[in-house]
Amino acid sequence: MQHEKVEKNLGLMIVLVVFAISFGGLVEIVPLIAADRERQPAEGLEPFTALQLEGRDIYIREGCHVCHTQMVRPLRAEVERYGSGRHFSTTEDFVYDHPFLWGSKRTGPDLAMVGGRYSDEWHRAHFYNPRDVVPESNMPSYEWLFERELDGSQTAQKMTALRRLGVPYTDEQIAAAADEVRGVREVDALIAYVQNLGTWKQ
Ligand code: HEC
Repeated sequence: MQHEKVEKNLGLMIVLVVFAISFGGLVEIVPLIAADRERQPAEGLEPFTALQLEGRDIYIREGCHVCHTQMVRPLRAEVERYGSGRHFSTTEDFVYDHPFLWGSKRTGPDLAMVGGRYSDEWHRAHFYNPRDVVPESNMPSYEWLFERELDGSQTAQKMTALRRLGVPYTDEQIAAAADEVRGVREVDALIAYVQNLGTWKQ
């Protein structure tokens, strides 16, 4: 009987629908605003250095995230394969990642904790031609990264923008950024970024 009243009264229906959606929304959203833990950095996690930050931008530019995820899920098989048998990704790992690079497709392995797994030399050979080190690889070669150099003209601005989003860069770090990256080959910046991934967990 009462149900019929609601269904036949458009005004009442609208009010109740708005109430139901708002209530559901609040239940989902308010805890996220209140919960601070998710926004605290993982122990040992540092903001990207200027060089790592430039490497990260190369990672984005070259579309590495199209084939690689950075998200070890809490499943046994993933932890064994990508998390040294001990770790999976948590929100604290990504507080300085703007935008995050979780990705959604794994043509290649997950990279969230690849830092330190190989030597810099291995990465250099692998980026120059993946098939030199992994014969069956279908990852593209990135030869141009060996020729191009960073000029550092925008590094400080990038860091200033990230600071606005809550990454705790100091004035000194920002002032030193351009000199830190100027003249460095792009491949070395990319390696600096990749070699840092997940090292705070290990
Ligand atoms: C077309 C898909 C594709 C793209 C794009 C791609 N990769 Fe890969 N990547 C792979 C595949 C497949 C493998 C596994 C075979 C191998 O090691 O080469 C791999 C392996 C790797 C590994 C070794 C991971 C491990 O645990 O053994 C690293 C590091 C890596 N890629 C980094 C990158 C970076 C950085 C970029 C962007 C510059 C990139 N990849 C772009 C497909 C891709």
